[in-house]
Amino acid sequence: MNILVVGGGGREHALIEKIKESELCEKIYCAPGNAGIAKVAECLPIAATDIDALVNFARENQIGLTVVGPEAPLVAGIVDRFEAEGMKAFGPSRECAQFEGSKAYTKKFLQKHNIPTAQYKEVHSFDEAVSYLDKFSYPLVVKADGLAAGKGVFICPTKEDAYNSLDEVMNKKSLGDSGNVVVLEEYLDGVETSALCFVDGKTLVPMTSSKDYKRIFDNDMGDNTGGMGTFSPNPMVDEAMAEKIEKTILSPIMKGFLEDGISFKGVLYVGLMICAGVPKVLEFNVRFGDPETQVLMLRLESDLVRIMLSCCDGLLATQEVLWKKESAVCVVMASEGYPATSHKGDVIDGLDSMFEDNIKVIHAATKLTDDGIVTDGGRVLNVCALAGTLEEAREDAYAALGKISFNGMQYRKDIAKLDK
Ligand code: AMP
Ligand code: GLY
Repeated sequence: MNILVVGGGGREHALIEKIKESELCEKIYCAPGNAGIAKVAECLPIAATDIDALVNFARENQIGLTVVGPEAPLVAGIVDRFEAEGMKAFGPSRECAQFEGSKAYTKKFLQKHNIPTAQYKEVHSFDEAVSYLDKFSYPLVVKADGLAAGKGVFICPTKEDAYNSLDEVMNKKSLGDSGNVVVLEEYLDGVETSALCFVDGKTLVPMTSSKDYKRIFDNDMGDNTGGMGTFSPNPMVDEAMAEKIEKTILSPIMKGFLEDGISFKGVLYVGLMICAGVPKVLEFNVRFGDPETQVLMLRLESDLVRIMLSCCDGLLATQEVLWKKESAVCVVMASEGYPATSHKGDVIDGLDSMFEDNIKVIHAATKLTDDGIVTDGGRVLNVCALAGTLEEAREDAYAALGKISFNGMQYRKDIAKLDK
């Protein structure tokens, strides 16, 4: 079958590397892709949000399955459009994508179904927000309701900080319409973990555990980013914790979907904070995580295309989803200035080095030019390794990373370092 992957980052490259292993896969297209993806798929000059062009391409090229990576086309209703044309697309409908498109929508759902999450208040104007500032303790978390590409969450140590963030978001509209509604939320102190699940409308199957590093600098210092590295499995989530997450969070979510008549299909990414042994929901995303996908795809034993088709067809309960015992580590190499800005056009050296078989150098933002492959955005490359233990995977990933360089490159040196 011909498969179209929508997106052009590290997540999409990692998905494509796994999709190409499937015996069901004949040809892979990617819109728009990047320089690394171009080695394994045919890249198309179509933006991930150009739904009309994507539908037309899929219709004219006998695409059997379209896999949607990023949230923006999902929130814009890409899956509904494909289904209306009788074509299969992996991902949630526009209605279900609200779980990422609106933080207030998710909070209401969590509260309604008694799923553990931070206390919150939804506010619709600056004055209303300010009237609640004395009712919360600090730090207070201020969240823009709508999509903000990872820039919509402000952890405010004092009332003054909260006031200023609200002023930026609600009065000055720094995030556009995404800040028309704001969620004020209790600060949760604990350890974060990501629980990604395959869902087919009736059945939810949790993936193996993974952990993302959100801050730009070592020891979790500096600004939030899209994610600077990941590893899987996450030893924080032992069997007992996995069971607790399933019983107190994931099963109630699925039960809530069924009670509310919500037919969620695709990947549900549940961001969790484990607070003194109690998992609580931070957020939902309605897609694969980036760079969680990079380590999860290295560890997925089963056929990804079969899993995705079973999610589209409501047959996930009969589908095998098995994981390798080995551990995987992914270290992100970012460009100069990230996350505030990103430097494009720096030539990347070392991509043709000899890498061991257990290494995958995933491209996140690269472009082929006359000078060779150059940086083309914030997160540039994801150097990933799969090995018997987390420590070995970590050593192998960093050894491979040492062969690659570009001007201004930045990466964390403490990914998967658990003994600090
Ligand atoms: P979100 O987009 O909601 O996941 O928020 C981005 C990041 O902000 C999370 O990954 C957490 O690190 C942090 N965060 C969000 N909500 C809270 C909260 N209630 N308490 C503490 N940290 C939070
Ligand atoms: N790594 C965080 C995310 O994909 O949202």
